[in-house]
Amino acid sequence: MEWIRAELKKIEGEKLYRKRVPVEGLKDFCSNDYLGLKDHPRVVESAKKTLKDYGLGSGASQLVSGYTKVHAQLEEELAGFKGTPACVLFGSGYLANVGAIPVLAGEGDLILSDELNHASLIDGCRFSKAERKVFKHRDYENLEETLKKERHSYRRALIVTDSVFSMDGDLADLKALYELSDRYECMLYIDDAHGTGTVGEGKGGLEEFGLGWRENVVVMGTLSKALGSYGAFVCGSEELVELLVNRARSLIFTTSLPPAVCAGALESVRIIEENTELIERLREMEKKLFNVLSELPYEVVYSGTPIIPVIVGDEGEAINISKKLFEKGIFVQAIRYPTVPKGRARLRFTASLRYSEEDLEFLSEALKSLIKL
Ligand SMILES: Cc1ncc(COP(=O)(O)O)c(C=O)c1O
Repeated sequence: MEWIRAELKKIEGEKLYRKRVPVEGLKDFCSNDYLGLKDHPRVVESAKKTLKDYGLGSGASQLVSGYTKVHAQLEEELAGFKGTPACVLFGSGYLANVGAIPVLAGEGDLILSDELNHASLIDGCRFSKAERKVFKHRDYENLEETLKKERHSYRRALIVTDSVFSMDGDLADLKALYELSDRYECMLYIDDAHGTGTVGEGKGGLEEFGLGWRENVVVMGTLSKALGSYGAFVCGSEELVELLVNRARSLIFTTSLPPAVCAGALESVRIIEENTELIERLREMEKKLFNVLSELPYEVVYSGTPIIPVIVGDEGEAINISKKLFEKGIFVQAIRYPTVPKGRARLRFTASLRYSEEDLEFLSEALKSLIKL
């Protein structure tokens, strides 16, 4: 249809055209498999065994017949891992955020959201009928100004933040957010997708800041990143979990996760709990990767997390570098608007325990030859 061709042309003209690329045969330097657990022998074995016992699909939604002992076990151990009384699984991080947030805040409530929050959080806030106010990235004075002015006009209030920001790799100051949520009687929703398995001793954002869970705090996380599987969860009080099971539309009206996917994730949680040195090794890997990337004539941002963006700025230039690296057998995705602001295009490198010394050397050589061109 003509209008579709015109839309695609417009996207192309803005240098924002995106294509999916099979990564086989390339060295992947941008995946979220930070601990290299997606093909860990224990994880694969556990998933294989469960696949044999339960088959592939779960067959129905959680509230029909798609909830098994494997799901219940994973929820129980995730709650223990996150230090909360209860946990509930969702089909993905996107589904968790768009489902849980509208349950927590609705008409007559206020949502306060960091401007760099992940798109799934933004959509969750949009789906909710609450009033939405965006505060400047990690600017908690700006957040407090809004709270001072607005909080009293609303029934409930919900502060929403990533723990580790997905495209910048920096950390929200959860201590400051705890204080503000106490002072202004707010709930705090933490998306720990990139914090789980990477910060603290692996348990995520709250552990990184030495904070214990409180009743007004909701911790969401994904199984799809450091846990090397697929799916997501929300941790909080028993009542919160019961309410989500009864109200979250993206949980009620969708098929539950395949049991084998849950079993693999459960094994990853156990591996992280048993091997706290994994996080130390990840930190070392981050520093090595940062040193290699520092050879580039761009701003390289390292915040003590595995997400290390190289800020190129211009969208076309970011694509160009990504293409040249591709030709050399290296895969790193150019991230552009609307995922990041216009003019802040970047190469989002990530550290992973998958990389060997040779891989880093390979990357370093490729970057050096690029600079010479
Ligand atoms: C911060 C954050 N939240 C949520 C998600 C969505 O998770 P999922 O990929 O499981 O849908 C992502 C990334 O995908 C993310 O980076």
